[in-house]
Amino acid sequence: MEFPKLRPRRLRSNESIRRLVRETKLSLDDLICPVFVRYGEGIEEEVPSMPGVFRYSPDKVIDEVKKIRDLGIPAIILFGIPEHKDEVGSDTWSKEGIIQRTVRLIKKEVPDIYVITDVCFCEYTTHGHCGVLKNHHVDNDATLENLKKQAVSHAESGADMLAPSGMMDGMVKAIRSALDEANFYEIPIMAYSAKFASAFYGPFRDAAQSAPAFGDRRTYQMDPSNAREALKEVLLDLQEGADIVMVKPALSYLDIIYRVKEATLLPVCAYNVSGEYSMIKAAGKLGWIDERKVMWEVLTSIKRAGADMIITYFAKDVAILINRGELA
Ligand code: PBG
Repeated sequence: MEFPKLRPRRLRSNESIRRLVRETKLSLDDLICPVFVRYGEGIEEEVPSMPGVFRYSPDKVIDEVKKIRDLGIPAIILFGIPEHKDEVGSDTWSKEGIIQRTVRLIKKEVPDIYVITDVCFCEYTTHGHCGVLKNHHVDNDATLENLKKQAVSHAESGADMLAPSGMMDGMVKAIRSALDEANFYEIPIMAYSAKFASAFYGPFRDAAQSAPAFGDRRTYQMDPSNAREALKEVLLDLQEGADIVMVKPALSYLDIIYRVKEATLLPVCAYNVSGEYSMIKAAGKLGWIDERKVMWEVLTSIKRAGADMIITYFAKDVAILINRGELA
């Protein structure tokens, strides 16, 4: 009998050799932890559709942010739920807005965590859309004016980086020039460049109370069928001055992450979104999958596809395992 000459299994025979040839390793440096902050006091409430994820009032959020920092996670991304919503989402540019108050507090109490703010309107408007409505349609250029106010206000409160997520045309350029004019030229923009109109955002909309009151977001978020268009969006954001580009969601869009990575020299962020998290949590609870292993496999695949950083609700879970040396 003819023996195989080439035997890839030689490099899989035990954990030591597997460690040596492992190409992709998750690290604390990859992680951005989402944090939900809401109006009120003394509040720490679990999001029903996202076990392990909580909404905090500003006074309670500090302990959570300290925990994240102590685990060695470099950054958080903040989402706000205001006390009062209105037609245009004016809480987003108020000095006493939920994000502004929270960022000031975090920067005072936990100055060493890097604070990214989500720049959008859907959590702040009565209609739940990501901008200004005209005739039941999100008006792009009127929204840009409000985005500039929101961005400068976030910067004034001490945000380290801004992440516009509304998929308005020209949003990166508008925000960049507003920041520059206000002398915030050192604050980077992480653009949600290829953000798809995804059903995987369902649990987030519970968490952030941001579901649209009518219609959907398909006139601004991308059609999940399109990959070349995602590259177009990324290249436009690059020209407009984005410092980091994002693909969102991640798991059903690994091909997009890969193509974006090949097409640009900017760092690529991937957003492992709420539905991707909740599916794993739910199946894990039912005992149908091994939650820890699936979490590891999913996050590793996102990194392997090309993500330089990952926004994930698993950030703390992963960090605990990495710190214990238990994440293979
Ligand atoms: C918009 C925004 C959304 C998410 C992040 N920023 C929701 C949306 O577009 O409806 C979703 C994140 C997730 O599902 O985890 N501000």
